[in-house]
Amino acid sequence: MIRYDFDRVIDRKGTNSVKYDLAGRLFGKEDVLPMWVADMDFPVAGFILDAIGERLKHPILGYTFRSDRFAGSVASWLDRRHGWRVETDTIGFSPGIVPALNMCVMEFTDPGDRVVVQPPVYFPFFSAVSNHGRELVYNQLVKRDGRYEMDFDHLEGLFKEGVKLFFLCNPHNPVGRAWSLEELQQLAGLCVKYDVLVLSDEIHSDLLLFGNRHIPFASLGKDIADLTLTCVAPSKTFNLAGLYTSVMITTNPVIRKRYEKILDAVHVGGDNILGQVALEAAYTDGDEWLDQLLVYLEKNYRALCSVLNEQVPDLFISPLEATYLAWLDFSFLELDDEGLRNFIIHRAGLGLNDGPMFGPGGSQHQRLNLATPTKILMEGAGRLATAVREA
Ligand SMILES: Cc1ncc(COP(=O)(O)O)c(C=O)c1O
Repeated sequence: MIRYDFDRVIDRKGTNSVKYDLAGRLFGKEDVLPMWVADMDFPVAGFILDAIGERLKHPILGYTFRSDRFAGSVASWLDRRHGWRVETDTIGFSPGIVPALNMCVMEFTDPGDRVVVQPPVYFPFFSAVSNHGRELVYNQLVKRDGRYEMDFDHLEGLFKEGVKLFFLCNPHNPVGRAWSLEELQQLAGLCVKYDVLVLSDEIHSDLLLFGNRHIPFASLGKDIADLTLTCVAPSKTFNLAGLYTSVMITTNPVIRKRYEKILDAVHVGGDNILGQVALEAAYTDGDEWLDQLLVYLEKNYRALCSVLNEQVPDLFISPLEATYLAWLDFSFLELDDEGLRNFIIHRAGLGLNDGPMFGPGGSQHQRLNLATPTKILMEGAGRLATAVREA
């Protein structure tokens, strides 16, 4: 067995890295420790880099199409990792998941139609709706005993008033929930009853921690599969976000045809040569690497909690069931959002994601990316603890 090294600290500055090279501009302070945007500070696995290197031995990078290996490797991965069997002809492409969100709004809704999102949630969910003149409707998550849940009563009220599309974040960024079978079944029941189309963003579905299991929304039954477009990708799992290669799964042939139509219409259905090669390598050979990554992420989350629970006991850290993003509740500091942002940047010297950008429910929170060598994570936790102590 190969032992992968997630402890190695790699200098990412000077690589046009959004996380590192834009931090000064975004936070107004050059030396913040960047723990924000959701990519990892770990090297891409050697077998993926080798596959890319192999392709680069051919000196021409012209237009290409996706081979059968693309869908085959996705299908095999979904079956191996999640027990979800999908036919290869249901597996399509998207140059990233945010483009897919936007395309689905353009294709499946009309101006003025209502689209439901569940904040606090990944913020491009909002712009994907409002960018196109559709109405953004919130079904805010509720926090019960420190755990976020969906508000089904409120959601049904919204569905009764008429909703075209629902954006599900499964698992949910930033609150770290891996939705349970019961929750997803209840949601599916409502979507079927009110005939609401669902875009299930499952980009974090390989990053399930502490014994939690991912349940693909469309795996719950034919009725709900017929109403669902599922997005998955190797981009978070294998740290390949810069290759813009994602997957759209549609088991309903009518929906698939319409999705392919919009993909063609905006002319983004073409292939990224290196993205294709990387995806195939990741989904074919990636199990061992991912299993070790998950152990490392669990270790990091535990280490973060251990330091912060001891040194900043009033800080509430949401239980992390999935993703590598910790959701921190700073309400004990009794600062307004501007004050909290300044505190994090200027007193703690950290570059985190501001809670309010995730919409209602995000106030007084910050999101911290823990997919970094433990040494860096501990540096970040230490900076935070010192800042709170000196506040
Ligand atoms: C829930 C969710 N969806 C989508 C994305 C980004 O997808 P892409 O880079 O493929 O557009 C992210 C990135 O953090 C995410 O957390």
